[in-house]
Amino acid sequence: MASPADRPQLARARQLELYRRAVRTLPGGANSNFRTWGDDTIYMDRGAGGRVWDIDGNEYVDLRMGYGPVILGHGDARVDDHVNERMRRGVSFSLTTEDEVRAMELVCELTGWVDMARMTVSGTEATMHLMRLARAYTGRNKIVKFEGQYHGVHDYALISVSPDNMAELGDADNPVRLTWGRGIPEAVADTIIPARFNNIDRLRRLFEREGHDIAAVIVEPVLGNAQGIMPQEGFHRELRALTQEFGILEIFDEVKTGFRFARGGAAEYFGITPDLASFAKAMGNGYPAAAFGGKREIMSLLPEKVSHGGTYAGNRVAAAAAVKTLEIIRDTDALETVHATGRRLQDGLREVLNEAGVAYHFTGHPSMFGIMFTEKVATEYRDWADTDHALYDAVAVGMHARGAMPEPDSREPWFMCEAHAADDSVDRAVTAFEASLRAALDDRARETAGVSAQGAMSHPAGG
Ligand SMILES: Cc1ncc(COP(=O)(O)O)c(C=O)c1O
Repeated sequence: MASPADRPQLARARQLELYRRAVRTLPGGANSNFRTWGDDTIYMDRGAGGRVWDIDGNEYVDLRMGYGPVILGHGDARVDDHVNERMRRGVSFSLTTEDEVRAMELVCELTGWVDMARMTVSGTEATMHLMRLARAYTGRNKIVKFEGQYHGVHDYALISVSPDNMAELGDADNPVRLTWGRGIPEAVADTIIPARFNNIDRLRRLFEREGHDIAAVIVEPVLGNAQGIMPQEGFHRELRALTQEFGILEIFDEVKTGFRFARGGAAEYFGITPDLASFAKAMGNGYPAAAFGGKREIMSLLPEKVSHGGTYAGNRVAAAAAVKTLEIIRDTDALETVHATGRRLQDGLREVLNEAGVAYHFTGHPSMFGIMFTEKVATEYRDWADTDHALYDAVAVGMHARGAMPEPDSREPWFMCEAHAADDSVDRAVTAFEASLRAALDDRARETAGVSAQGAMSHPAGG
C-alpha cells in the first residue's frame, strides 16, 4: 500500500496567487460558476492538440476539452489559420457574410434533416430561441424537460438540473420544479415540466393530462451532464412517436452530441428526426459558434413572427470557425479517429478496472463517456446518487496530479478529440487513472482499517 506521502503533488503557487487576486474582482475567481473550485481553481496558460498547461507549468492530457467543443484539438492550424485569415477583414459588422450562409448550409448538409438554421453565440441562446419558436408554432406555453439535463443558463433551462441531493427533485412519482439558484421568476419556472429520462409510460400519462398545453419536449439525446447516461433501447423511437401523437414538438439539444456522435449528431446516431435542434460546441472547435435549426415550416416563423437577434450572432470568427470545422468533419475521418481513440481509452481503463475488481459501467458514447462506479446501469439522473461518486472524485482529482485532467465532478463525461490519437495521450491517461484508482482504493482501505481500529478501541468489551 503506497503511503499518502508518496503521492505526486502539483505545483500550484502561481495559480493560488492568481486565485487570490481574481476573487477580488471576479465572483468566485472565474467567469462561470462551473469553474470555481476555491483554492483548487485552475488557471490555464495554453493548449496544443490534446494537451493543456496551467500557469504553474503542469502539463495534462486534456480530457475536458473545454466541456466538449474542442473536437479536433487545441490550436488546430487548419481552423485557426482560416479564422485568422478571415478576421483580418474585420470581425463584426452586424451584417451578414458569406461564411454565415456557408456555415448554416453545412449544418443542413451534415444533419440531412435540418432545413433552415440560424447562428447564435452560445448553446444557451440556441435552446432559448428554440423554446420560443416551439411556443410560437404550437400556441402552447409549456415545455417538458428531463431531470438532470442541462440546456444552458437562461431562466427556462435552469429547472431540475443537477442537485447533489435527489430529495430536492421531489417524489419520484411527482417531480417538483427545482430552480437552480435564486432569481428565476416563479411564473417562468411554472412553464417548465420536469420529467424522468427513459420513462415513456410516465410521459404518456403527462401528455394525456396536459398535452394540450405542452409546446415541446426538449431532450439532450443522452444525459450529457450525468456522465452521458444513455437512452434505453427504443426510448427515442417511442418518445418521437409520442410527441407526434400529441402534436408536441421535439427539440433535440445537440449542443454536446452534435457533430460528435456522428456527422449528423445524435439524431443520426439514434436514427431519429426531431423537429428542431440546437448545436454548438463541436461545430466550432472551441470558437463560440452555435446554431438552432429545424423544419422549414417552424423556422419560417422567423423573421416576421418570432424574435431572434444578437449583435454577435454569426460574427466573423464564429462563422469562419464553423465553416472550417464542419468541412473537416465532413471531408476527413476526424470523427472516426475520435471514436476509435475513445474506444482505445475505454479498453485500457476496462483492463485496469477489471484487475482492481471494482464494479463499474461505462456510460455515453466513446467520444464522450463517463465511468460510473456502480453495479446497476443508470437510466436517469436520480441513479447518479447511487453510484460511488466519492471514489470517482478521488480518482479524477488524483489524475490531475498524475498528468491527465478529467473534470473533477463525476457528472461531467470525458471528452475525446482527434489530436489525442497523435501522441501517447491514451497511454498516459490510462497510467494516470490506474495509479489514481490504486491510491484512492488504498486510502479507502486505510480509512476503513482506521475506523474499525477506532471502533475496537472505543468498545473494548465488544458485544
Ligand atoms: C446540452 C447542453 N445544452 C446547452 C448548453 C449551453 O451551452 P453554452 O454553455 O454554450 O451556453 C450546454 C453547455 O454545456 C449543454 O451541454
